[in-house]
Amino acid sequence: MKSTLKHRYISVILFLFFNIIFSQNNLLEKIIPKVSDKKIDSILMLLTLEEKVAMCHAQSKFSTKGVERLGIPEIWMSDGPHGVRAEISWDSWNYAGWTNDSITAFPALTCLAATFNPKLSSQFGVSIGEEALYREKDVLLGPGVNIYRTPLNGRNFEYLGEDPYLASKMVVPYIKGVQKNGVAACVKHFALNNQEHLRNTINVEVSDRALYEIYLPAFKAAVLEGKVWTIMGAYNKFRGTYTTHNPTLYKILKKDWGFDGVVISDWSSAHSTKEAALYGLDIEMGTGTDGLGSNSKNHYDNYFLANPFLELLKSGDISESIINDKVRRILRLRYRTNMNLSRGFGRINNKEHHDVAKKVATEGIVLLKNENNFFPIEDKEGLTIAVIGENATRSMTAGGGSSELKPQFEISPLEGLKQRYKKAKIIHAMGYATGPSVYDNVIPSKFNQDSLRVEALGIAKKADIILYIGGLNKSHLQDCEGDDRQSYKLPYNQEELIDQLKAINPKLGMLLVTGNAVDMPWLSKIDGLLQTWYLGSMAGHAIADVVSGDVNPSGKLPFSFPKKLKDNGAHFYGELSYPGDGTNQYYKEDILVGYRWHDTKEIEPQYAFGFGLSYTNFNLSEIETNKTKYSLHDTINVSCKVTNTGEIKGSEVVQIYIGKEKSKVKRALKELKGFEKVNLDKGDSKIINISIPISSLAFYDESISNWNIEKGTYTVYVGNASNNVTKTITISVK
Ligand code: GLC
Repeated sequence: MKSTLKHRYISVILFLFFNIIFSQNNLLEKIIPKVSDKKIDSILMLLTLEEKVAMCHAQSKFSTKGVERLGIPEIWMSDGPHGVRAEISWDSWNYAGWTNDSITAFPALTCLAATFNPKLSSQFGVSIGEEALYREKDVLLGPGVNIYRTPLNGRNFEYLGEDPYLASKMVVPYIKGVQKNGVAACVKHFALNNQEHLRNTINVEVSDRALYEIYLPAFKAAVLEGKVWTIMGAYNKFRGTYTTHNPTLYKILKKDWGFDGVVISDWSSAHSTKEAALYGLDIEMGTGTDGLGSNSKNHYDNYFLANPFLELLKSGDISESIINDKVRRILRLRYRTNMNLSRGFGRINNKEHHDVAKKVATEGIVLLKNENNFFPIEDKEGLTIAVIGENATRSMTAGGGSSELKPQFEISPLEGLKQRYKKAKIIHAMGYATGPSVYDNVIPSKFNQDSLRVEALGIAKKADIILYIGGLNKSHLQDCEGDDRQSYKLPYNQEELIDQLKAINPKLGMLLVTGNAVDMPWLSKIDGLLQTWYLGSMAGHAIADVVSGDVNPSGKLPFSFPKKLKDNGAHFYGELSYPGDGTNQYYKEDILVGYRWHDTKEIEPQYAFGFGLSYTNFNLSEIETNKTKYSLHDTINVSCKVTNTGEIKGSEVVQIYIGKEKSKVKRALKELKGFEKVNLDKGDSKIINISIPISSLAFYDESISNWNIEKGTYTVYVGNASNNVTKTITISVK
């Protein structure tokens, strides 16, 4: 008996030891580059030119060739940013119809951004990386970090909002989490892919200042802090050249930032052999000879980085050192992933992943309005709740484009509410119906709509409370890749339905299921409003937790809700600014994106960046900086006491913005430079400290093509939303 106990102790200790060693891939990462760089060079010498070229382009929809004779494996890739996509066929966009590729659907990244919680982002990355590893994928094609410039962009739901600092802070832990598994993250889409309309051809013109201060920071953080192993080029052009092989972006990425990973094209975003060879494209994916990525015989050999590339190398037009750099990077990717002997085997659809998905969902939900104590809704005998709206039951993991998923399960809002409310009676009606599949924008026949409307109004009459669950969906021209919304308003005549529901029953609250801001003419008619994003597999449970008060909402908006489209910077300057004239588009709002625009132009938003209510109240006090005069290499330490003055525990996000009124250049009134989320029991207080290096106050000075810190006075704004500042402090930099 004793010996088995001893053996058990030893085995546990050994298991823990190896777990610690192997899980510290970053540790191995420090050792591996030395080892693998020598090995890489030795392998390089063994490869024929044909084998090198074959590694630089697709062999199928989502894989590239290995070198069988040397035992070098293929590289397998899969979408997407909030879950591992179902298996796709070798040679076409059709799904392969596997029965073992169902996965956990995590919340879309706007929800992750809304948590303002980098620790959660790390857990998200580790979990999704484990699922990708289990599905034997070497590259996970996410996260997306394109800045939210217009509320119409079909893919905003996949990204991290309008502020470069928030996006930078939230993307780094995600990448590290994924890559801890020996799976490469692929930060995308580099760069300036801020809309879907005409994405394949539009040429973006933007100032260097806005490029460096707004559109590049999240990519820079992904490379320099996240150590991301791959990055995906975008479809659009920048200053006349496709971003996937663009001289300016190539210099910034591989020279200035020293990126040592692999640049992967978007699917059919490569358009030139010479440019791809010379401007840093390493792996070309998704091209078809017709350029649409369509299925045509042997088109892989006709890829820009296939035979045409081989010919230029053989003729000497392109030096072999060019392809050697690409192959070194591609081999390094293999040593980090499928040739990394310490890689585990991953896990999938397990409780830990479901718990992470639910935690991100509940922490990301934003309480926007709560009058007459509409929320939380108590579960009590005799109460009848009418749940109305198609988004109460419609799957939101299907559709949306390449980020669509086949989850093992997806708890709908209605299902989650029914499971949570045991005493109250829940009745449901759709109220309206949209296209049967996610890609049809066809509205069913007129008759259906009327009967659905009548049914909904009927149950509204019988209920004590109406919970309307509407918003957008993942259909074409909604929150979906490939194009943008064509209106800021809610679709499918929802505004009329909301008005009619209000007329029947004043106790009306709303759950907005969207990844984008929408027009809110109905806002005065509802008592309670929750922004509930696209929450994935655990949607219904997360929603029920917040609606019932089991969880106190703590999300903050990662982007502004303008009152009307023209109040948004991209739309203020008309068609040339958005969506462009069909060929070119000019980011005329420049650095004034999102709240930077609203604050500086004094255009009040419907809801502000960083805003989110709670079921409790918080007080910010004792706000101080460690000093008021700083040198260039100093750090500003801001301390702030947060007190939970309400009746239940909850979380608050202290946000620090900094601005410079008197400046030699145009500036936003204030910019986010620090934040921290703090969880407090009722009555509790906590002093938090946030450090902001003076270097982070630099602006990109076009006159010297470099960053520059202006001396003089700055204002430090401390509050819990971009439009709710508790205290300002003036400091000076000498
Ligand atoms: C799509 C998307 C990209 C995705 C890729 C593969 O067009 O732009 O984000 O990873 O193609 O599906």
